[in-house]
Amino acid sequence: MAALVLHSLVRWFIMFFGLWTVVNALTGVFGKRPYTPSDNRTNLFFMISCDIQLLIGLILYFTGPWFDKLKDLGNNMKDANNRFFTMEHLVMMLVAWILVHVGRTVVKNTEGDAAKHKRSLIFFGLVMLLIIAAVPWPFREAIGRPWFRWFN
Ligand code: HEM
Repeated sequence: MAALVLHSLVRWFIMFFGLWTVVNALTGVFGKRPYTPSDNRTNLFFMISCDIQLLIGLILYFTGPWFDKLKDLGNNMKDANNRFFTMEHLVMMLVAWILVHVGRTVVKNTEGDAAKHKRSLIFFGLVMLLIIAAVPWPFREAIGRPWFRWFN
């Protein structure tokens, strides 16, 4: 399914721009750098990748078997794979998505380079931790998915 391939792929854009954003914030805080348009652009791309991923995720959620499983929640929550894709992945990623937007607004409305970098580190760092924790990496027991997928 094309949406699944895209969802798997966009994860790497999120990792790329997310890590770049966090590295920028770290060098900003510890290197006492000014907050530049390039810092702003990097976290904008991070946010846009998250927006695209949310959209594809919603398509997967409502066109796949997951949403239906909410009807028999009791039984489905006993299965780790069902529980993960029906609830855990969705909730953690939604929180991450909200925080990336809140983070951009907070940083935009913050005065001073040092304070902007510090808030970037707090918000975007937290977002990255949440996303990394909620991705079904191949080594995750019961819920693991491949590193890459491609169209066939
Ligand atoms: C924002 C960061 C997100 C990341 C990095 C992410 C990453 C992933 C990855 C890597 C997979 C496994 C894909 C595969 O099997 O190759 C996956 C599966 C899935 N994701 Fe996400 N996801 C995100 C957000 C969301 C959101 C917000 C939703 C729901 C609204 C969602 C719904 C799903 C569903 C339903 C599946 C399972 C698809 C299926 O096999 O039927 N994801 N996600």
